[in-house]
Amino acid sequence: MNIIYRPRRLRKSQAIRDMASETKLSPSMFVYPVFIREGKNIIEEIPSMPGQKRYSPDTLPRVLERAAESKIGGVLFFGIPEHKDECGSSAWNEDGVIQQAIRISKKEFPDLTIIGDVCLCEYTSHGHCGVIHDGKIENDPTLEILSRVAVSQARAGADIVAPSDMMDGHTAAIRTALDHEKFQDTLIMSYAVKYASAFYGPFREAAGSAPQFGDRKTYQMDPRNVREALRETALDIEEGADIIIVKPGLPYLDVLKSVKENFFVPTASYSVSGEYAMMKAASANGWLNEKNIALESAYSIARAGADIIISYYALDLAEWIRN
Ligand code: PBG
Ligand code: ZN
Repeated sequence: MNIIYRPRRLRKSQAIRDMASETKLSPSMFVYPVFIREGKNIIEEIPSMPGQKRYSPDTLPRVLERAAESKIGGVLFFGIPEHKDECGSSAWNEDGVIQQAIRISKKEFPDLTIIGDVCLCEYTSHGHCGVIHDGKIENDPTLEILSRVAVSQARAGADIVAPSDMMDGHTAAIRTALDHEKFQDTLIMSYAVKYASAFYGPFREAAGSAPQFGDRKTYQMDPRNVREALRETALDIEEGADIIIVKPGLPYLDVLKSVKENFFVPTASYSVSGEYAMMKAASANGWLNEKNIALESAYSIARAGADIIISYYALDLAEWIRN
């Protein structure tokens, strides 16, 4: 038999496989999430996320140095305040933990792209992403607070703000507030699609942001839906989102692909804390090879359409793909 086309020819050597591969990863597409807590001289392990740490603003440059050297796309800051209250007032304090962190970073690493998480759950005593009235999350009053938070981060020097609250209309409210304060060039990387996922568990422990009553199902999305994700994305883009986020990562590749195919803005996938914790735990037990599964996961997310990958493995991935 004379077989003319032989797929295996393209698999002949690593060099040919690399040349012909349909998906390429580069350090510039990775964003590394960093937890910053109030205090001095602190670097502490996060038990639910082995290998990840909480830094105080003064020790933060140590990890930023690695981020800058590895030439990743940027870092995403989550602030953990000392003081929490009903409305999350520490979140927009000009001298708050994340504002301090942003100022220090911009001073020491002016070329490193800094993204500030805009949400209230780390800052509220009840742990919800919005303000509460009669046991319910109040959407519109929350928008005003989120806008204040975004402006305070832009003022501290953030290049991008990333609202993760899932309030309706958050992007329009934040865009209007930023423009009003002359921050027209500050980007909004909006969590257009964020599911009410059980994969956020380790993060909530890391950031101390677990809801003290109820859950987030009234504002985050139902894991059974995909068309809802397209409606949310359409709204966020119309409201002025520069970059959109689909979250979590691996369990939602179908959603990511659909969003990417239907819209024309840069699309980020957030490989969340639960995905990281699973990979860490299985590799710590010797059941899976950490480097191989982390790389394969990243390739899968890129193959599904992510232009940007937010991952706790960002620094490792950047190093692995370089070698
Ligand atoms: C809070 C927020 C969460 C994550 C990012 N921002 C958790 C939540 O919604 O409870 C999850 C990130 C992760 O699990 O890595 N708005
Ligand atoms: Zn939140």
